[in-house]
Order: sequence, then C-alpha cells, then structure tokens
Amino acid sequence: MTQAIVYVKAQENDIPLLASLDKLAFNRPFDNAFTEKEFSELIHNDKVSLFLVMKEALPIGFYIFEDTKESEGEIVGIALSPTHQKQRIGTEILLKLIKEYGHKKTIKVVTHPQNTVALLLYLKHGFVISEYSDSYYGPYQPRVILYKKNY
Ligand SMILES: CC(C)(COP(=O)(O)OP(=O)(O)OC[C@H]1O[C@@H](n2cnc3c(N)ncnc32)[C@H](O)[C@@H]1OP(=O)(O)O)[C@@H](O)C(=O)NCCC(=O)NCCS
Repeated sequence: MTQAIVYVKAQENDIPLLASLDKLAFNRPFDNAFTEKEFSELIHNDKVSLFLVMKEALPIGFYIFEDTKESEGEIVGIALSPTHQKQRIGTEILLKLIKEYGHKKTIKVVTHPQNTVALLLYLKHGFVISEYSDSYYGPYQPRVILYKKNY
C-alpha cells in the first residue's frame, strides 16, 4: 500500500491549485473540469468535504465528498495528477472514504462510461451499477451511476 499520503482540508486560497489539479487529472476528451467558481461554492458548502491529497508535502490530488442526506453521501470526485495515477493511491483514498462514511446506508458515485480505471476501482470495492443516463449533466453527457450499500 502507498505510504505517506496526507489529507489536508482545502481552503479558499487553494482554489487555483484545485483548478489546476482538476485540469491535469480530468484531461481526457470525455472529462468535464470544475471551474474556480464551482470550487469556491464547494469549499463554502457545509455539506461538502474537500481535501487535498498530499505526498511528501506536495499536493498530488484531491477528493470531494458530499453529505447529501442523513442516510446517503456522494463521492463527487477523486482526482490524482497523471504522474500519481495507477499507483493504488486512488484505492487508498476510496478505502478511507468507505471507512469514514460507513455509517451511511448508501454511498453514491457517478462516472463516465469510458472511465475504465474509475469504474474498476469502484466495482472492486463493492459499488454496483444502478443506472445509466445518456444525458446526466446535459446532452451528450453519458454517466454511469453506482451505489455502495452498507446494509
Ligand atoms: C480514477 C483514479 C482516482 C483512480 O486512482 P488510481 O490511484 O489511479 O487507481 P489505482 O491504482 O488505485 O487502481 C484502481 C484500479 O484501477 C485499475 N487499474 C489501475 N491501473 C490500471 C491500468 N494501467 N490499466 C487498467 N486498469 C488499471 C485496476 O483495476 C486497479 O485496481 P487493482 O490495483 O486492485 O487491480 C485516478 O486514476 C484519477 O485521478 N483519474 C483521473 C480522474 C478521475 O477519472 N477520477 C474519477 C472520477 S470520480
């Protein structure tokens, strides 16, 4: 398992950093990137936990979790810079979230059908495909909706 991963709550002055990490991570033709305004809204939303992922004191990514309902939460995103992908750090982050939010009845996540690594990551950790939408965020925005049920 990867060592020395540290999570630091993101602050307002981290918004440009978050936006640049987001652009680096979501760099494929099917990806959508968050704007700085969207990051600002997320940071100011009490129901959202937005943490930078640090390795050797350097920011290498972030995760966003939203406490959507008492019984449900949503992994809004996990993002790692390309140089830190496919080294099981995503697995480490997901396991932390599953443990931390194990009291929720369900954990939701939405991903693109071509996002193979993300789909494999979630499926391997007990998430089950629930729905497919060919226009989740708007036209030509297909997404797969997965849930992990903790009961
Ligand atoms: C998706 C993401 C968070 C996964 O994190 P990661 O650290 O890269 O993934 P991991 O190394 O933990 O691997 C997870 C699984 O992906 C699959 N995988 C990893 N590397 C792979 C490769 N080279 N080829 C095919 N599948 C691969 C494996 O099934 C792996 O599980 P295993 O190691 O138990 O076999 C990361 O790749 C990322 O930031 N991607 C860009 C942003 C994104 O798409 N985020 C997810 C949307 S919510």
